[in-house]
Amino acid sequence: MSTPLQRYIEDHKFILDAISKAANIADPMAVDLDEFCNPLIAKSKRGAVLPLDGVLIRDWDPDYRKFWPGLRFGVRMYEIEGIRFARAYAGVSEDAKDHCYNFFAVARQDYHKFYRLALTCRRKSKPPGPPPVLPSAQIEILRKNTLDYLDPKNLRRIKSYGGRAKRGLLLDGPPGNGKTSACRWVYHECLRLGYENRFVTPDDYRAARNACNPAEAIRRLFEFDKAGVVFFDDMDIALRDRDKAGESDDQAVFLSALDGIQSNEGVVYMFTTNCSLNRIDPAFKRPGRLDVVLHFPLPDASLRRELFQRWHFDIRNAIDCETVVRDSQGNSFAELEEYKNLLVMRFIECGQWDWDWALRQFQANRAELQNQKNGRQVGFNAIAPHAVNGTH
Ligand SMILES: Nc1ncnc2c1ncn2[C@@H]1O[C@H](COP(=O)(O)OP(=O)(O)OP(=O)(O)O)[C@@H](O)[C@H]1O
Ligand SMILES: [Mg+2]
Repeated sequence: MSTPLQRYIEDHKFILDAISKAANIADPMAVDLDEFCNPLIAKSKRGAVLPLDGVLIRDWDPDYRKFWPGLRFGVRMYEIEGIRFARAYAGVSEDAKDHCYNFFAVARQDYHKFYRLALTCRRKSKPPGPPPVLPSAQIEILRKNTLDYLDPKNLRRIKSYGGRAKRGLLLDGPPGNGKTSACRWVYHECLRLGYENRFVTPDDYRAARNACNPAEAIRRLFEFDKAGVVFFDDMDIALRDRDKAGESDDQAVFLSALDGIQSNEGVVYMFTTNCSLNRIDPAFKRPGRLDVVLHFPLPDASLRRELFQRWHFDIRNAIDCETVVRDSQGNSFAELEEYKNLLVMRFIECGQWDWDWALRQFQANRAELQNQKNGRQVGFNAIAPHAVNGTH
């Protein structure tokens, strides 16, 4: 009787051999394309489907058509710049990610060129979405200090003049104005451009702080082998002024981890916090630890207008932009998005785009939240006669 491992190996060899015969790929190498998959497929010519050892089961699943091979069992051929490659899908295992049965194959002689093409495709692939709405100068600073900073050419120049391959950015401001959204955008751009990245949440930080060896665990949060960005989201606990917050030696451990990293490849640390700058530990703000501070205040009229312009065409068609801009004065971006959500829910229920209703409902929801915060137990009182699902 064979072991699962032996079966796995036999199955894999069998499939690779079957691909070689079906697709006429000499000496095939198996590869899991992972995050290169979609950018590469998007740029490749889709070819024929072929049976795998005489078996072909097509899959009519209409979702994800562009990237899915359209098979449950068999081979889908592709071609990019004269390189033929195949995707084998042998749905033996329930686990679609089981790489023994679901992988790509390319001739050994084409492998290096194929890899270089995959890198280029990923680099040139479209960003998954626009950056958050920010003043253009702010986006420029953000890009310059993260993605452009990590550009190998830029880093080489910096290092050749004896500059530091390490950069610290602090994003501060009241809730809901795009700090985390900005990090998310940089994160997706990192994926696209091939930079490393890591998201550190307050929970991750707390877990490291409570580890047997906190200094070592926290140091590992900062450490990177390759060029990339580490995001420290909502790091109030680590950044507050030690004197004012009366905290333990947390910040000292945090700062020494930050100082301890000697990056050769280039690393950017992005911290976000709700703390105002004057409540942040002065030690953290000294040059060498923090290079750039970006404020994310409440949006002014022009930014609120810009966010409105991103709303669905039907909403923009039905509701006056300037009314929204005027009525939302003093609101955060997140609150503006909540207006939109209320509008949509109301539309689903009543078939009308009713801005006045959304405005009243928003105020009512906010008042109720405030009451709950004050400890009063009140039921939800919808202002409109027919409460809208999902806004309770
Ligand atoms: N600048 C922006 N452009 C577009 N949408 C935004 C922007 N800022 C916030 N939003 C919307 O508000 C939501 C919450 O924003 P985000 O999480 O980025 O706020 P934050 O500044 O990180 O808040 P917090 O301080 O509470 O963590 C986002 O998912 C997005 O829908
Ligand atoms: Mg946030």
